[in-house]
Amino acid sequence: MKAIRVAQYGQAEGLTLQERPALAPKKGEVLIDVAGSGVNPIDWKILSGAMQAFIPLELPYTPGVEVAGRVAAVGEGVDSFAIGDEVFGFIGIVGGYATQVIASADRLAHRPGRLSPLEASGVPAAALTAWQALHEHAQIKAGQTILIHGAAGGVGSMAVQMAKVVGATVFATASARNHDYLKSLGADQVIDYTQNRFEAVIDEVDVVLDLVGGDTQSRSWDVLKAGGVLVSPVSPPDAARAAEVDATGKHFATRSDGAQLAQIATLFEGGDLMIDVEVLPLSQAEGALRKSWGRHIRGKLVLDASR
Ligand SMILES: NC(=O)c1ccc[n+]([C@@H]2O[C@H](COP(=O)([O-])OP(=O)(O)OC[C@H]3O[C@@H](n4cnc5c(N)ncnc54)[C@H](OP(=O)(O)O)[C@@H]3O)[C@@H](O)[C@H]2O)c1
Repeated sequence: MKAIRVAQYGQAEGLTLQERPALAPKKGEVLIDVAGSGVNPIDWKILSGAMQAFIPLELPYTPGVEVAGRVAAVGEGVDSFAIGDEVFGFIGIVGGYATQVIASADRLAHRPGRLSPLEASGVPAAALTAWQALHEHAQIKAGQTILIHGAAGGVGSMAVQMAKVVGATVFATASARNHDYLKSLGADQVIDYTQNRFEAVIDEVDVVLDLVGGDTQSRSWDVLKAGGVLVSPVSPPDAARAAEVDATGKHFATRSDGAQLAQIATLFEGGDLMIDVEVLPLSQAEGALRKSWGRHIRGKLVLDASR
């Protein structure tokens, strides 16, 4: 098998596909022949070295948190998947940019037939993040209003669609080039954050999903109703500001959960969710990381493991 290897933090140059030893699944694990690997901001955040204190890794390592592919072998005690099954999953914090990976069976789900393997490879991390933000942390309900910052990216594009499934009214921020895309996903109103301050354009909302952080997050308190919730997987909201406006701020890290991913898969099967992917060869992982680092991906960027 082959994998992209990072020898040094901060060094995005010279990431190449290298031959690696064969993998064998242990108890509870699955070996996957990878079709595609999703690219996520966490990949370049880890590569930058900024997360060393929270996520200590042994170097060299292989980036990548999610894959889709076919089961090549199963370890002892795995009865939910069999050789030949098409699966996808958020496999862990690293390891995904490879032609084969090992994953714990409880992190996987069967790939929805409506998605190609490459499309499916971009789903797990973004969809689980959006799902947990909306349902576990914001507990969004029909008839509520939500403002989604960074709506055109991986998590945002999932969150817009999931909020519409619930029956919420969705306000979204994005640059003008992404407005038609977000309308096609169901957003009720899209605000061009490069031209307008969102707080000047919308009324108070029940929920803010912050996928941008910084000043965007701090200004969001001004549009939150009393009793509202600001959820951010990017950075912890200011508790003092939350108290001032009688709202709640929540920060969370996404949990890998195969059963929840299976629930999300049924929404793709039913046509309630879709994903837009841009595909690059796995051998061009370095360029893909740089592109993601630029912070203007629409939908998801994924790596084709066959190239
Ligand atoms: N803690 C966790 O477990 C966890 C899990 C998942 C994600 N996250 C974090 O959540 C964030 C979003 O993740 P992602 O995968 O969705 O990222 P992404 O796909 O890279 O997001 C890119 C999108 O951000 C938009 N954007 C950039 N600056 C913006 C701004 N100032 N206002 C509004 N939109 C802006 C861009 O739209 P335009 O091109 O139109 O500007 C682009 O579509 C990242 O910081 C990621 O690390 C954390």
